[in-house]
Amino acid sequence: MQEKIRIAVDGPAGAGKSTIAKIVSKELGIVYLDTGAMYRAVALKAIEDEIDTKDRTGLAQMVEQINIIIDYLDGEQRIYLNDVDVTNRIRTPEISIGASNVAAAPEVRLKMVDLQRTISKKTNVVMDGRDIGTFVLPDAEFKFFLTASIEERALRRYKEQLAKGICNISLEEVRKDIEYRDKNDSGRDFAPLKKAADAIEIDTTSLSIEEVAQKIISSVKEKLKQ
Ligand code: CDP
Repeated sequence: MQEKIRIAVDGPAGAGKSTIAKIVSKELGIVYLDTGAMYRAVALKAIEDEIDTKDRTGLAQMVEQINIIIDYLDGEQRIYLNDVDVTNRIRTPEISIGASNVAAAPEVRLKMVDLQRTISKKTNVVMDGRDIGTFVLPDAEFKFFLTASIEERALRRYKEQLAKGICNISLEEVRKDIEYRDKNDSGRDFAPLKKAADAIEIDTTSLSIEEVAQKIISSVKEKLKQ
């Protein structure tokens, strides 16, 4: 029987989680699940429906009526909100802040976590997020927690935005967004951003993407050999 592989990659924005998790997924031939996209899709719906992203009662009602589906097209994750592909619309700074707000609502989290656990039951997976190792998959076979200095994380995210042609946001604004989310995500009561006690912490500040990915891949392969 093939071994179960569930890899949790947690950490704050800009620590390199998604880029690295994608490399790990390709190299190990397992599914990559970007859980942040789910909170982003919920935020998009709230903003479209003019529901305050901090209004827990409004969000609890809204989330009961939405359907989120994750699919893969040419190996890339797509996310559907009520059957509409919203993958490309959820990457704006407004949605980043909104996602951090809606993610503090337990009703929202429980629905997303349910979906995440269902996916992990069907397939081997590398999942990135904030609470994967602590709450979603506390018994995951592999757990990593990526960090980097705030300066480095802001610079990475700023360069990413520029590469995507988003030029209307300054480095200082990117840094403020990240600081807001760091505080919000770590300070919330329910399933906050936190390193799991048994996670391997990697400070990526002065490491290349490839170096971090290889650290994770070799650590997984090493353990699988045992
Ligand atoms: O890619 P980036 O780190 O900027 O953010 P993301 O992973 O897309 O997540 C957006 C927001 O969703 C985060 O700031 C968190 O508030 C929330 N989130 C969460 O609470 N739990 C997760 N497992 C994933 C994301």
